[in-house]
Amino acid sequence: MRPWQPGSGGADLTRRSFLRATGAAASLLAAPALVGCVGERAPRWTGDPFSLGVAAGEPTPDGFVLWTRLAPEPLSPDPATPGGMRGGPVELTYEIATDPQLRDIVRRGTAVAEPQFAWSTHLEIAGLKPGRPYWYRFASGDATSRIGRAITAPAPGSRLDRLRFAFVSCSNWEYGYFSPYRHLADEHPDLVLFLGDYIYEVTNRRRPTLRQHSDGVTASTLPTYRNRYAQYRTDPDLQRLHAEVTALMTWDDHEVQNDYADEWSETFDDPQQFLLRRAAAYQAFYEHMPVRPSRSRPDGPSMRLYDRFAFGDLAEISMIDGRQYRSREACYAPPNGGGHLETAATCPELVDPSRSMLGMAQEQWLFDGLARSTARWNVVAQDVLMAQLHEFDKTGRKGFWTDDWNGYPASRTRLLQHIHASRPANPVVLAGDIHSFWANDLKLDFDDPRSPTVATEFVGTSITSPGVPYDLFAAFLPASPHVKFFESRKRGYAMVDLTRETMTTKFQVVSDITDKDATLSTLKTFTIEDGRAGALV
Ligand SMILES: [Fe+2]
Repeated sequence: MRPWQPGSGGADLTRRSFLRATGAAASLLAAPALVGCVGERAPRWTGDPFSLGVAAGEPTPDGFVLWTRLAPEPLSPDPATPGGMRGGPVELTYEIATDPQLRDIVRRGTAVAEPQFAWSTHLEIAGLKPGRPYWYRFASGDATSRIGRAITAPAPGSRLDRLRFAFVSCSNWEYGYFSPYRHLADEHPDLVLFLGDYIYEVTNRRRPTLRQHSDGVTASTLPTYRNRYAQYRTDPDLQRLHAEVTALMTWDDHEVQNDYADEWSETFDDPQQFLLRRAAAYQAFYEHMPVRPSRSRPDGPSMRLYDRFAFGDLAEISMIDGRQYRSREACYAPPNGGGHLETAATCPELVDPSRSMLGMAQEQWLFDGLARSTARWNVVAQDVLMAQLHEFDKTGRKGFWTDDWNGYPASRTRLLQHIHASRPANPVVLAGDIHSFWANDLKLDFDDPRSPTVATEFVGTSITSPGVPYDLFAAFLPASPHVKFFESRKRGYAMVDLTRETMTTKFQVVSDITDKDATLSTLKTFTIEDGRAGALV
């Protein structure tokens, strides 16, 4: 039970007292604006207020979410002036058109850049036509944003013959240029799914890095998380991807802290203290992402992110939160605050059925959605590897990694048994986190190779983060025959082409992440046939 829940007996950390504690309340009381008056309609800008670009996300049959954040000085080091802004709310205007040149405007309106959310704005657009692209632009005073593109989803249940989407994870600024994002945008998919580690909170102090986090610190406060997101958003490839491709978002651990689980930090912080950090991290995530404010506006350390998205009769995509509600890592005790190897023998807690990766409420929500779905393809998009993986370390210690689904085997069994029993059509699991490509059969019983394959899993490699050691992980594979493909030496993304008959997944790789002009090639292509779980090479 969380300390701010009524009746918990703990400290009364209500939203109001939480805001006071974090100083957020002060910013609700508007002071004069740097760029003009409070609610200023025509500010004169000294720098481009749209330096972080624009983004669209979460398509519905009649709309989407549009995002921007005013930041004339995107890397402003002064915590009192995020993005170079201070003062009160600023009014923006927006226009939405049916053509890329914005000649046929179908919607004009105003929006407010909110000081308590670093002058970001999140617009829930509705009332548009289903299944088509739109183009949009923001303006404030004498400044206009670049033109972005957004799609609406097809009408509910309508026939859809094709959906193309990419999934990505693990982009660490310090290790490379984001050329995979550029190549992804060049492929013009309908959607891009971000599966976590969009930023890295840590700053690398040990290895030479290609480019540095601007503040050189580990993000742990609202200003430092904000600065990290802002810096990543200045990347031209990422900025272009968001402007051109509608996004679905979830997170993994590095948006907050490596290997955290709910209020349990890798570094054994006091949970109440850690939740203050988590609140700052979640708020900064919200401030930078095209997510639905009516669902995701943060409330202290809580932020509802998981949701499902339907695309006609072809696909339903469940975006899962694998961090906020998970049980504490098994055998959480110094020095093991995060992922480590355990077995049921070394750590009976590992197999405790009361533990959950998703939290019981989200688990039930996912089960209900899968049972009810009439979609031809049912995609479960989440952060970490689901397939069983027998690992060992350099000392010969064998076990399961406690930070991915191998650390929550009872939760995984419940999900796979539910899929097997409720039989949603063509269940597919997508994951990131492990900085390597995988294609796996998800078995009803991983210890029995003859057991039914109930779903297929694809794991995408990182955008830039260093891969897991190839030789070590390749040595794990004989003990896990349901793993059909593994490659950790390449950086890139995965591109999916869904039709009524097949799901084709291409593992796309770039030549060199230290080369801004890296080229693209296809490492491997997999096909799943309608009605038959398992990846065919
Ligand atoms: Fe990562």
